[in-house]
Amino acid sequence: MKHKRNFIKPSWHMPEHLATSESAFLNRRSLIKGLGLSGIALATPPLLGGNARAQEADPSASLYPVDRNEAFTLERKITPEKLNLTYNNFYEFGSHKQIHEAAQALPIRPWEIAIDGEVEKPLTIGIDDLLKKMPLEERLYRHRCVEAWSMRLPWSGFELSHLVQMAKPTSKAKYVRFETFQDTSVAPGQKQFWYPWPYVEAITMEEAMNELTFMVTGAYGKPVSKQMGAPVRLALPWKYGFKSIKSITRISFVEKQPVSFWEKLAENEYGFWANVNPEVAHPRWSQATERDLESGDRIPTELYNGYGEQVASLYTDKQDLGDRLYR
Ligand code: MTE
Repeated sequence: MKHKRNFIKPSWHMPEHLATSESAFLNRRSLIKGLGLSGIALATPPLLGGNARAQEADPSASLYPVDRNEAFTLERKITPEKLNLTYNNFYEFGSHKQIHEAAQALPIRPWEIAIDGEVEKPLTIGIDDLLKKMPLEERLYRHRCVEAWSMRLPWSGFELSHLVQMAKPTSKAKYVRFETFQDTSVAPGQKQFWYPWPYVEAITMEEAMNELTFMVTGAYGKPVSKQMGAPVRLALPWKYGFKSIKSITRISFVEKQPVSFWEKLAENEYGFWANVNPEVAHPRWSQATERDLESGDRIPTELYNGYGEQVASLYTDKQDLGDRLYR
């Protein structure tokens, strides 16, 4: 569905009740399955088939599961993996939620990550060499989209601070900028020239060094699936989900505040900070509650998505930004 005024706007510009809900989608699937039409009517292989393919290509599979760090737990239960594998935002593969099939086209080996900018020595490292150097652990995190749906997942990976230490940034580095792959031969969404590809996100150095800032390489005790951002993505659980960039190929330490992908498109709606706050509405919808993707329950949103204890101090000297901190 397209926005009346500006067709480049993401589907987030649609109030949730107007979008096809994922439960309607899943019901449609089971109806079609019941009729024995799944292979014909839905050009979608069985879910496990898609996931197994992702794993076959992944030499890191033997690393998982990793030990859980019990310091990062949840009050509510983990969202079923099936939902996470079939309800994704990954605009490189389409501007809707059912991109899991298309995302299987992404080749995840070899996969190199450039680390550059204001560092002592720029380098390029393969994902499997990086995994050998980083201490892997599992954490249970909340995941809250700006669209107001939410999930809870077991991510595996490592704290970004370990990578920052390895990169040895200079004193000029004030921000960390992340970039996703760009390859129109596998990602049809990137042919949509009105989007400012590649997907870019950024955080401050202080945010990068916070213990919550996590580089995700696995989920549900396995390598992270392609649709969730294999082979490495970010998780910033106190911010809206669009900050958690997927399938990262470049990490740059920079002096000036970068402009991110959605910020370029609609900076007054999807800004640089994007910290979760129930009291600061999106310009066109409330953020007071979130919708649990599994149960459909509306749950009151918490400031910093419930992670205030870990992150509030990052923003005490930035209060003059007002609502900009939360959008
Ligand atoms: N990263 C890339 N490269 N491309 C994207 O379209 N979407 C973002 C974020 N990271 C996106 C991305 C948005 S809007 C959200 S809510 C989360 O990924 C969704 O992550 P999930 O599909 O694992 O739930």
